[in-house]
Amino acid sequence: MPIKFKSFLKQKSSYKGGKSLSEIDATDKKIYKLSSNENQLGSSPKAVAAIKKHIDSLYNYPDRTDDRLRQALEKYYNGELKADQFLTTNSGVANIDLIIRAFMDEGDECIFSNPAFGPYHEFPKKIGGKSIDIPLIGDDFLLDVEGILKAINERTRLIFITSPNNPTGTHIPKSQIDAIIAGMPDHVVLVFDEVYFQFADAEDYVRPLPYVLEGKNVIGINSLSKAYGLAGLRLGYSYSTLEIASYLQQLRIPFMINSLSMEGGIAALEDDAFINETVEFVHREKKYLYKEFDALGIKYWKTQANFILTEPSMDPLIFEEEMIKEGVMVRPVAGFGAPTCVRITIGTRAGNETLVNAWKKLLTS
Ligand SMILES: Cc1ncc(COP(=O)(O)O)c(C=O)c1O
Repeated sequence: MPIKFKSFLKQKSSYKGGKSLSEIDATDKKIYKLSSNENQLGSSPKAVAAIKKHIDSLYNYPDRTDDRLRQALEKYYNGELKADQFLTTNSGVANIDLIIRAFMDEGDECIFSNPAFGPYHEFPKKIGGKSIDIPLIGDDFLLDVEGILKAINERTRLIFITSPNNPTGTHIPKSQIDAIIAGMPDHVVLVFDEVYFQFADAEDYVRPLPYVLEGKNVIGINSLSKAYGLAGLRLGYSYSTLEIASYLQQLRIPFMINSLSMEGGIAALEDDAFINETVEFVHREKKYLYKEFDALGIKYWKTQANFILTEPSMDPLIFEEEMIKEGVMVRPVAGFGAPTCVRITIGTRAGNETLVNAWKKLLTS
């Protein structure tokens, strides 16, 4: 008898993630990497110091469990959430993958809204699940709450929402999230991705936290990749009700979090100074970019995150190539459901000036 391959695992996944610097020929040129929403100020210094301190102990296995990290998270959330309400994983995206595997079987459905982060529709395919796209509406990228609620059926397991959203940078107003949660039947779990929450400052912005505290079927997805500047460490976490979190814990393997991630993560959670500096820097530089984009007549969307969605007046892939020639990496987001757009991480002033000058050159050539 031949090997029984699962048919849905034989299809190639189209989610690849952004290019890394090593894929770019940058032998003798400074490249500003504004393509993956990384922290342009670097990493949390507290995390780096903790990692250096433990670098010589790699011959030892790490903690068998993630207890210490979850206790650090309980402290970070001022005891509002208990350690057992967290699930830590090797990145935010691994958390999303684990949640999909935990809740969806072959033939089950989830709902997401393009333009959106690719894994919400790519990962369910790996278990033979279906992702139903209820696209964001109009030029303001508004969530179609009514459409989402109508799309729910008995096979629906998960709804993915993201606020601030990648790649649009928009947020979902509290009233809309209230409406989804009020209209959602009991068999559905709302996966609320908030990996950019530190950058949001809109008055009607809301996190998943209050809903979890009310005992709703909500999971908040987080990552230490963005504001903490630890994308290379691969550390993420989610929080939910005790019932959901304990269920998800069953899929964790022992020793999952390596010792450097464990120590770096625990230290990072105490690094408020770095987060404040990062948020201040992003807010300052986003104003600079708005001003320069306005002056050049560039189409862009106001952002609640550390990146800006733009629409260059040329094919995004050609734009990407032209920008690389000038020393800036940007991200075309066709794979996120925005085929005419390019997402640009808010850079340092030097990176932003290089971007603006390169764009000016393109517009006048
Ligand atoms: C919306 C969103 N969720 C989750 C992630 C996952 O981040 P990571 O896997 O680096 O923790 C990202 C990363 O780009 C993201 O944009």
